[in-house]
Formats: sequence, C-alpha cells, structure tokens
Amino acid sequence: MKLIDGKLIAAEIREELKKEISELIKKGKNVPGLVTILVGDNPASEIYVRNKGKACEEIGMRTKAEKRSADISENELLELVNHYNKDNNYHGILVQLPLPKHINEDKIIEAISPKKDVDGFHPISVGNLVIGKDTFAPCTPAGIQELLIRYNIETKGKHVVVLGRSNIVGKPIANIMLQKKEGANSIVTICHSAAKDLAHYTRQADILIAAIGQPNFVKADMIKEGAVVIDVGINRVEDSTKSKGYRVVGDVDFENVAPKTSFITPVPGGVGLMTIAMLLKNTFKAYLMFGE
Ligand code: GUN
Repeated sequence: MKLIDGKLIAAEIREELKKEISELIKKGKNVPGLVTILVGDNPASEIYVRNKGKACEEIGMRTKAEKRSADISENELLELVNHYNKDNNYHGILVQLPLPKHINEDKIIEAISPKKDVDGFHPISVGNLVIGKDTFAPCTPAGIQELLIRYNIETKGKHVVVLGRSNIVGKPIANIMLQKKEGANSIVTICHSAAKDLAHYTRQADILIAAIGQPNFVKADMIKEGAVVIDVGINRVEDSTKSKGYRVVGDVDFENVAPKTSFITPVPGGVGLMTIAMLLKNTFKAYLMFGE
C-alpha cells in the first residue's frame, strides 16, 4: 500500500505556477488574476474563500475578494459578475456556493463568462467536458486525475467505479476518466444510492472513487485486492478526544481498507488539498487561453 500525498502534489503544482508567474513578471507582462465573490456570512464559505485568496497571493497571482451581504439582490449580483466578465485583470471568476435562497444559483453560474469559468460549473463548460473539448474541468475531479497522473497510475482500460453522482464530483470525474486521453481512457461505472447491491459494483473497481459524503462507508469487503482507492469525502464525526469535539474522516474506512489497496488517498491530506491547486491551474489556463 502506498499513500497518495495530496499535500505534496498540491505544493508541487503551486510551485510550478509560481515559477511561471515570476517569468511573466520578469517579462513585464500582466499576471493572471482571480476574483472571488462571497455572499453572506457562512463561516465555512468565509474560510474557503480566504484560503483561495491566500493561495493566489502566495504564487504571485492577482486576487480580489468581493464580499456582499446576504440581502444583495439577484440583479446586483448579476451586475457584479458582469463587471468582472469585462475586467481584463481578472481571468477567473469564482462565486462561492451556496448562495442565499432568494438568489437563483443557476442564473448566476450561467452569467459567468465561460472564458472565466474556472470552477467549471457553467453548462457550456460541462458540455465541452462531455464532448471531450478542452475546457475548465471542476477543480476537485481535475485534482483526482492530476493525482493519478503524477503517481503514474495506469488508467487506460482500467475499470473506474465512481460512488456518487453529484455535479461537482461524481459526474465530472466520470466524464474526465472516460475521455480518450492520457490519464483517462478508462471503463467507467457510476453508482449511487439506488443501487441494490453497491458492493457488487465496487468490488469490480480497479480504481474506486468515493464521493458520497458518508463517513467510513466503504468497507474492506467492498474492494478488490490491489485496488486504487480515492476518497473524496470530508465528513465531521464526533470525537471528544479532540479539542474541537470532532475529527474529519473520509467516505472510506481507511484503517481496514488501506492494507488491501495498492494506492489510497488519506483524509485529510489527500484529494481535498488538490482543489485549490487546480483552481489556480484553471485560472492560469484562462489567462493563457483568453487573457494576458
Ligand atoms: N462551495 C463548496 N465548494 C465549492 C467550489 O469548489 N466552488 C465554489 N464556487 N463554491 C463551492
């Protein structure tokens, strides 16, 4: 069993981007920029957005944090998005989700220019991913593929079983692994809560990707000997021995599953840390494709 170190790979990616940006600065060129838009005061969202801004600053990327109160109107938010669609200093626009109930999330996502859709949530980006065109893939699934590539894990012809069908992870990772491209070209099965016997599918996986949001759901008897296990879950479970009163665990019963695997991602320290690194990579890509 070998641990897949998301922290290490995320740091590697940030370092590569930092170098590229310092080259741009040396040449006197504009640098890539990311604007984050946060509405309301959800404490978790505030932390996520702050971390995204910090990550930009650390690699020399321009960043701006727009914050609006929860009572902003849908039209005002649309205007703000439109403002940044036209601002050439910002190549990526990230509207942190969830948004307050009175705002239609789909409408806001669809207002973001597909050229600046570094989250990969716009229906045009989703469609381009499905038909295999170069596009912005959502950051967490893009991070999973990056881990597989950087650990030289063979994916061609391998059976990838995805647990979960969310628009943020399950569906996009299935589409990514299906592409006839390097780091993909897999046989893909998506399973979900309606399956009568989930283990029937998961036991066939050469690469199992768990993204269902249920703590310790995947047990040792659900996987094949030597499988690669990617754990996307971030679940809080009560733990009175911790000062916060909880600890974070994945969707996989790590202790019992790990010895059976060839590779496994830990939680924390696995996939989670890749999301921001891939957001930076997508922003750099937006700059190269449409900006400067
Ligand atoms: N909320 C939780 N995760 C994400 C994400 O990856 N992007 C955005 N925009 N909002 C989120």
